[in-house]
Amino acid sequence: SGMNGHEHGTMHNATTIGLQPTQSCEAMTEKAGNEPVREYELTAAQHEKKLDNGQTEQVWAFNGITPGPEIRVTEGERVRIVLKNTDIKEGVTIHWHGIILPCSQDGVAGVTQEAVKPGEQFTYEFIADHPGTYWYHSHQASSVQVEKGLLGKLIIEPLKKRLEYKQEEALLIQQLNGTWLMNGSTKSLNIQAGPGKAVRLRMINAANETETISVNGAAYRIIAMDGHDLHEPGLLENVQFQIAAGQRYDLLLRMPQEGKAIVETDSGLRAVLGAGSDPKPRSDYSLFDWTNYGAPDPLAPVGNLIIDKSYTLELGQKLFVKSINGKSFHEIPPIVVKEGQRVKLTIINNGGGDHPFHLHGHVFQVLSRNGHPLTGSSVILDTLATQEGESYEVYVMADNPGLWMMHCHNLRHSSMGMSMMLNYE
Ligand code: C2O
Ligand code: CU
Repeated sequence: SGMNGHEHGTMHNATTIGLQPTQSCEAMTEKAGNEPVREYELTAAQHEKKLDNGQTEQVWAFNGITPGPEIRVTEGERVRIVLKNTDIKEGVTIHWHGIILPCSQDGVAGVTQEAVKPGEQFTYEFIADHPGTYWYHSHQASSVQVEKGLLGKLIIEPLKKRLEYKQEEALLIQQLNGTWLMNGSTKSLNIQAGPGKAVRLRMINAANETETISVNGAAYRIIAMDGHDLHEPGLLENVQFQIAAGQRYDLLLRMPQEGKAIVETDSGLRAVLGAGSDPKPRSDYSLFDWTNYGAPDPLAPVGNLIIDKSYTLELGQKLFVKSINGKSFHEIPPIVVKEGQRVKLTIINNGGGDHPFHLHGHVFQVLSRNGHPLTGSSVILDTLATQEGESYEVYVMADNPGLWMMHCHNLRHSSMGMSMMLNYE
């Protein structure tokens, strides 16, 4: 459709993404060491899928299911994934959302590789060096292919647990051709969990809209955002949180001594943990303020911040086109940095909805929100939730040479032009 005219895909050529003739992602792969290797095969194909509400959908899926197979590895392992395409004509890639890896493995069609056509294959390889909750999705015509189902969970378990829990579940929220699903289901998910038990919930928002999540019947802590631990997370009881498109929130939930705990989204999805009576619904929620938190491992030195380069990115709408600084994807000059530079991005949401801003190949530390510095704390993300009127400053260490996309993770917005490149000299 015309809406997808700006989709980043195989129509790129070197000039539209701001490439110098000498630049490419080739040859930037991680050298083989002696890490244990984990191998997967993901085959993309068209399927007809009957949802649990009786509805039949035409989907595009990895290994016949959406979400695709959960990839679950341990910190330090080498992950090798062979992508095959059976019959998706425009080709498929896989982007490993949130993973810091060599640019050649980043899976962006038309930038880091050509899309994998029917009958072809491509092998991705990276070291799972940072534990956390991630996800994967096609990055060829992604606004179309993600909604059709080409996505899945990617979990990197820590070598050593920082917190005590014996049970965990990953919950992926998606909109399959418009229908909201949690782990592929339109109905309540029932999860067994004993009274008093600690359960880690890894929540992934793979939809285009922001979801508001409430937890009834149990106290919980938000222990990580985008795969990065929050420092000394407090116990929350009547607090809702918002998870923007592309983001992940990890909760550590303490089951009640009696009755169920219910996690639900404002789009009507729910996970029911435990057995017994339903918790009393609450009406006195406040909203979780993540700017009060920090990570134990800040990227930026506290107090004495040196910035080599600063950029301002205004996310907004120009006529009907989603834009950055009034331009859309092919007109936006790339940010060009040198390895080792300390970069500050000021990200302003000038309207047109929520714009969760995602940076490939790097993480960033949030320095301020609406002019208020996040003093003494550090929240590290790969996808920044921004609402209309908000402004943020974030700090990026330029430490991963290559060609990297930055875009709104409402993939409809990104396909309408709210995308740009961060390239290295
Ligand atoms: Cu999860 Cu460029 O995206
Ligand atoms: Cu947006």
